[in-house]
Amino acid sequence: MDEKEILAWAEASGISVEQAREYLKKLEPLDKKEDDILREVFSGVNRPVLELSAGRGEFTRQLLEKYLKPEGKLYTTERLPEVAEKLAQAIPDKRLEVLVSDSSTLPLPDGSAGLVISRAALHDFVSDDGDVVKALEDCVRVLVPGGTFVIYDKIKDGYQDVETESAEGRMERMNVELAALEGKVCWGLHFLKDYVRLMEEMGFSDIKTTVLEMPDQPGYVRYMTGNLNERRPAYVKRWGEKVNAVLDSLAADFQKTPPRALSMAFVWGKKL
Ligand SMILES: C[S@@+](CC[C@H](N)C(=O)[O-])C[C@H]1O[C@@H](n2cnc3c(N)ncnc32)[C@H](O)[C@@H]1O
Repeated sequence: MDEKEILAWAEASGISVEQAREYLKKLEPLDKKEDDILREVFSGVNRPVLELSAGRGEFTRQLLEKYLKPEGKLYTTERLPEVAEKLAQAIPDKRLEVLVSDSSTLPLPDGSAGLVISRAALHDFVSDDGDVVKALEDCVRVLVPGGTFVIYDKIKDGYQDVETESAEGRMERMNVELAALEGKVCWGLHFLKDYVRLMEEMGFSDIKTTVLEMPDQPGYVRYMTGNLNERRPAYVKRWGEKVNAVLDSLAADFQKTPPRALSMAFVWGKKL
């Protein structure tokens, strides 16, 4: 974050610049841990990398800037055409190709990727029946034998009832409710052990895990409330007026939910 971004974020969160800096300082050792793991999983990869569910492309940018070789190739998937188009325009890097594709129908040959990776994607994963193993089968197909599959996602470890104990946990329920408005199922938050089981069910071996305990973000509720208010018209456009009830109930719950953060976990393994 540059100075301007820190100021804007502090203001939108209702916190002082000192509080903002203190929080960013706490993130430094976690960034280092993340960097070590990403260097490890990218080392020796000499085929294209597939990123699942880029969203606004923050992680995509990071992969291109820090980990993908200059002659490498990165495919990233996004199931929503309008999001995919914005993404391709926003990241003009020749090594990047945005696939407008659901993860279950990838336009790539068998064994063509050396690494499949996603960040903050699986808890948000939407499919017809909520069967994540089935939804990810095609991602396993495109991974070369010996290739690495990396899940990097939010987890609900440390909470009994994540939706009432953590504002971020409550926030994540919204994605489940939005998917339901479309008659679909969003996987939602899970425990680390669920991701390990998922990797086992997908047939990966040599599974490793690392948890990054994220510090609570000061001003999270205020920041997210402002953000959701800004996005409300776009949500209504996509889901109709019924989305207002989802947003209103989230705003009300935010007022009584502790502003605690969720941990992030890396879970990675090899395809046999
Ligand atoms: C939280 S965002 C991803 C954030 C991003 N990876 C990052 O780290 O900045 C989750 C994205 O997953 C996409 N998504 C949900 N279900 C999907 C599926 N079955 N296949 C592909 N993309 C999916 C959504 O459209 C959304 O853009």
